[in-house]
Amino acid sequence: ARKIIIDTDPGQDDAVAILLALASPAEIDVLGITAVAGNVPLALTQKNARIICELAGKRDMPVFAGCDRPMRRKLVTAEHVHGKTGLDGPQMADPTMPLQDQHAVDFIIETLRREAPHSVTLCPLGPLTNIATAFERAPDIVGRVQQIVLMGGAYFEVGNITPAAEFNIYVDPEAAAIVFGSGVPLVVMPLDVTHKALTTRARVEAFRALGNEAGRMVAEWTDFFERFDMQKYGCDGAPLHDPCVIAYLLRPELFTGRHINVEIETQSELTLGMTVADWWGVTKRPANALFVGAVDADGFYALLTERIARL
Ligand code: BDR
Ligand code: CA
Repeated sequence: ARKIIIDTDPGQDDAVAILLALASPAEIDVLGITAVAGNVPLALTQKNARIICELAGKRDMPVFAGCDRPMRRKLVTAEHVHGKTGLDGPQMADPTMPLQDQHAVDFIIETLRREAPHSVTLCPLGPLTNIATAFERAPDIVGRVQQIVLMGGAYFEVGNITPAAEFNIYVDPEAAAIVFGSGVPLVVMPLDVTHKALTTRARVEAFRALGNEAGRMVAEWTDFFERFDMQKYGCDGAPLHDPCVIAYLLRPELFTGRHINVEIETQSELTLGMTVADWWGVTKRPANALFVGAVDADGFYALLTERIARL
């Protein structure tokens, strides 16, 4: 199984991504889950991460709290999408499994130093603060990362938090610039792909019809956050962003994209956090990312439903 660290700010779509990974032990070995401030403050994201592990029956999964604010800016949150708790929708009890004492950044550094070079993949589902802080503090680990598969950015679809920027990159653009400039092979799931993975009624009802608690939670989370996106974009259902990252590890053939150069805007107030994606190759800058543009949405939901059924 492929070793990964999930770095996350749950978030209902983060929650579905974590469930997908925990439901796939034959392919994916989750070494730990590191929480970061993003959709809601860190106190909630680390708690939500533990709620999700308990829901998946993985009380022994190590969960770490990381950075509580971006590297150089004030935290921007997204309660308008995810609700006050970050996991609004179904009623869920507080977790009883422990939070690890170690800081998430130290866990990332220690794990990459301990494991064989190029054997650990990082899966960021929120702002890139934890990852960039680890890279800055321990440059020796950068060359040891196998791959980074992340949700963030936008190109044709452009922004969801400003006209120019996607939330995860916008919240900590300096961190994103470090990660995109790190030289680690990147796979990027921007809004262009996640807005093609919509939670239609039929897809949500398929989760509910599974009859297990995880299926019911996925359906109820989706019921909650759909409201925001459907009103906003006028589409049938909401984009299920973060599970695209884990689905890519399981079934890369569901996705298509281009190897291109992607740079992060960190200066302009107007376009702060924009992923400047050289889709047409107009610069001579070397490619640093596989920028994904399309997904087989039916295949993606079939995979997700089949895995959630296992929990
Ligand atoms: C990203 O921002 C968050 O609100 C979601 O969890 C996702 O990671 C989408 O822009
Ligand atoms: Ca997220």
